[in-house]
Amino acid sequence: MIIASNFKTNHTRKSTKEFIKQVDNFVKNTNSDVQTRIYPTATALDNFDCDKSIKVGAQNFYPTFKGSFTGEIGFEQLQEFGVDSVLIGHSERRHILKESSSLLVKKYDFAKEQGVEIVYCVGEPKEVREAGIDAVMAYIWEQFDGIDLDYSKLIIAYEPVWAIGTGLSASNDDIKEVLKRLRKSIRKPLLYGGSVNVDNVGDILDIENCDGVLVGTVSWTAEAFIKMIEAAQKNKEK
Ligand code: PGA
Repeated sequence: MIIASNFKTNHTRKSTKEFIKQVDNFVKNTNSDVQTRIYPTATALDNFDCDKSIKVGAQNFYPTFKGSFTGEIGFEQLQEFGVDSVLIGHSERRHILKESSSLLVKKYDFAKEQGVEIVYCVGEPKEVREAGIDAVMAYIWEQFDGIDLDYSKLIIAYEPVWAIGTGLSASNDDIKEVLKRLRKSIRKPLLYGGSVNVDNVGDILDIENCDGVLVGTVSWTAEAFIKMIEAAQKNKEK
């Protein structure tokens, strides 16, 4: 089970540190072995001394070790903080920041060369969802074009665009169907993301083929995030 928090553009260095400390204390006190991921803003990255089940990763990077890419962050800068997990293909980067599929493939290949864990996000916009499950799957498969699905440190996050930050999660049946179809050809952990909250996380984690969740909004308080880790722990014990 993987429980991941994407901070997006939230938290400061100070509040990130406090958040991570709280989560780390909880994990250590309860001997939790749920795989936990936290993706703070780049300015809040640091050498955190955490339990081995917690990875603090990067939301973004430019596919270079170092170089002249004003405003961007390369792997030299990430390695300084021991970052070994990155998000690629999040819908906000695809749609708001206009990252093209060719840039995503470059980022993917670069991260793969560096040997870090990749959480690769896919998901359809509302109009595609309205066109039915076959359209949804065709859309998602296109997002896998050029992506090496055999990479050993790959995790997939299915995040319907219309469910992200809207408070409107996909139905459990819809999630189940997409994960089932992905599972036919992908042997990697499959996460769901999109308006996951403390109340629905248990049921989502119960869905067949669901190996965890990637959470934005509701995960931004340590208390709520910890509740989700607890839900994953309970799920494992079932
Ligand atoms: P949300 O975001 O939980 O706020 O819907 C999910 C995500 O962007 O990964």
